[in-house]
Amino acid sequence: MTLRIFVSRDAGAVAVGAEEVAVALERAAEARGIIIEIVRTGSRGAYWLEPMVEVATPQGRVAFGPVTEADAHSVLDAMVADRPHSLRLGVTDEIPWLKRQTRLTFARCGVIDPRSVEDYCAHAGYKGLERALTLTPEAIIADVTASGLRGRGGAGFPTGIKWKTVAQASADQKYIVCNADEGDSGTFADRMIMEGDPFVVIEGMTIAGMAVGATKGYIYIRSEYPHAVAAMNAAIAAAKRAGVLGPRVGGSAQNFDLEVRVGAGAYVCGEETSLLESLEGRRGIVRAKPPLPAHKGLFGKPTVINNVLSFAAIPFILAGGAKAYAEFGMGRSRGTMPIQLAGNIRYGGLFEVAFGITLGELVDDIGGGTASGRPVRAVQVGGPLGAYFPRELFDTPFDYEAFAARDGLIGHGGIVVFDDSVDMAKQARFAMEFCAIESCGKCTPCRIGSTRGVETIDKIRAGDRVAENIAVMEDLCNTMKFGSLCALGGFTPYPVISALKHFPEDFGAAPPRLQAAE
Ligand SMILES: Cc1cc2nc3c(=O)[nH]c(=O)nc-3n(C[C@H](O)[C@H](O)[C@H](O)COP(=O)(O)O)c2cc1C
Ligand code: SF4
Repeated sequence: MTLRIFVSRDAGAVAVGAEEVAVALERAAEARGIIIEIVRTGSRGAYWLEPMVEVATPQGRVAFGPVTEADAHSVLDAMVADRPHSLRLGVTDEIPWLKRQTRLTFARCGVIDPRSVEDYCAHAGYKGLERALTLTPEAIIADVTASGLRGRGGAGFPTGIKWKTVAQASADQKYIVCNADEGDSGTFADRMIMEGDPFVVIEGMTIAGMAVGATKGYIYIRSEYPHAVAAMNAAIAAAKRAGVLGPRVGGSAQNFDLEVRVGAGAYVCGEETSLLESLEGRRGIVRAKPPLPAHKGLFGKPTVINNVLSFAAIPFILAGGAKAYAEFGMGRSRGTMPIQLAGNIRYGGLFEVAFGITLGELVDDIGGGTASGRPVRAVQVGGPLGAYFPRELFDTPFDYEAFAARDGLIGHGGIVVFDDSVDMAKQARFAMEFCAIESCGKCTPCRIGSTRGVETIDKIRAGDRVAENIAVMEDLCNTMKFGSLCALGGFTPYPVISALKHFPEDFGAAPPRLQAAE
């Protein structure tokens, strides 16, 4: 009998030894005369358990982790004899951290072979496209709109409205662009799904092409993601061979072709217009809007540009789940959000859940507090432009509007946890320094303001006329917030001001103007 074993090929698992574990399992099986088949999957997202190894059993897959090379023999023995083992985690789907999730987008990630279109189809893949092929473009867009899906890249713009705008634009050529630049601190969901379930992204983009009348798409992936680039390229080739991508998609009259383009590594190239400049072969500099990319985007043509997770949500919605998707969530934040728990956190990883869960539940309950065991002091939500939240705001529900009401943002769903050893004035300086380094330089408030911001925080940290310099900092933040052309300069004040507001003691003195405003 062949033992089917599953080992992740996700970059996060590979980084902690998944390749070596796969080889060690093969050698151990050979030495014991056991026939095994190792399926390389994506990650389940419970990163503290990687390398996690699973075996197919009549009860379902049973997991072991974290497994090292040295454990290969004993783990294999435990698998064969169905014996207890110190690393045995039980039936994978019953692991509480995984069971608590609502995996609509990540349902197949960590389960299927990301190189096999057959495996994707065997797990309900391409059902969305199948249905989309029976619908008019208007009906596809109506479904996306009804699902309430908002862009997962950061701004939370309704996806259905964006698609409708492109669909209504008349042009000889339109494009679909997938934003896989994923620059936010603590985020990895785009990488994880591209490596673990690339077909769901391809299927979502193909449906978008049909909805708006685009025949060509590009996936712009950051160069730091070589595993994702390889996974997407392999999946594109497999989808073409299977006839679900390329000319006459699925035997229909629709054509849709896809290409991967690799970015050169700039945070601002995640900003949509800068990304388009980069795709066209120029330096990544932000374009003034209007015109919107939906009217005049890639090569001057109407373009849908969406985040990886936005496209990856589409197949579920089209497979008949617009209402099912919309039933999850709260307020205007519908569906689920793949939240990424990172930084100093005990149980870090990918946690997909309906909007509405509180920040406290995510950090304390699901994340298990800090990895260092020290108290949580601050949490930055939404990447380097997101606000720092203190424990007093842990009752904030994960929802676009609720975070905005507390001067924060959920961005791409990244949560970075800090313990009580963090120096928040240093973090504020880091926000300004990051902006100074990553600024595209097009507008003055961001280009010059961020450098002046670093200098001003240095003065505050050195105890130089603290109250006056805090006032200068606030003025500077206002200028950046209201005078910058894009959100890089416009949102850098959020981490700075939130650090100042919630942790004034780290700045050497209480900021008088902020206190007066409260
Ligand atoms: C400085 C900056 C960086 C950004 N980085 C990303 C990114 O890495 N990935 C992403 O999807 N969106 C990023 N965005 C947002 C995009 O401009 C755009 O809103 C998004 O790609 C639209 O897709 P969505 O509607 O699916 O979210 C960034 C925006 C700014 C201002
Ligand atoms: S805010 Fe910064 S990154 Fe954005 S356009 Fe201005 S200079 Fe460029």
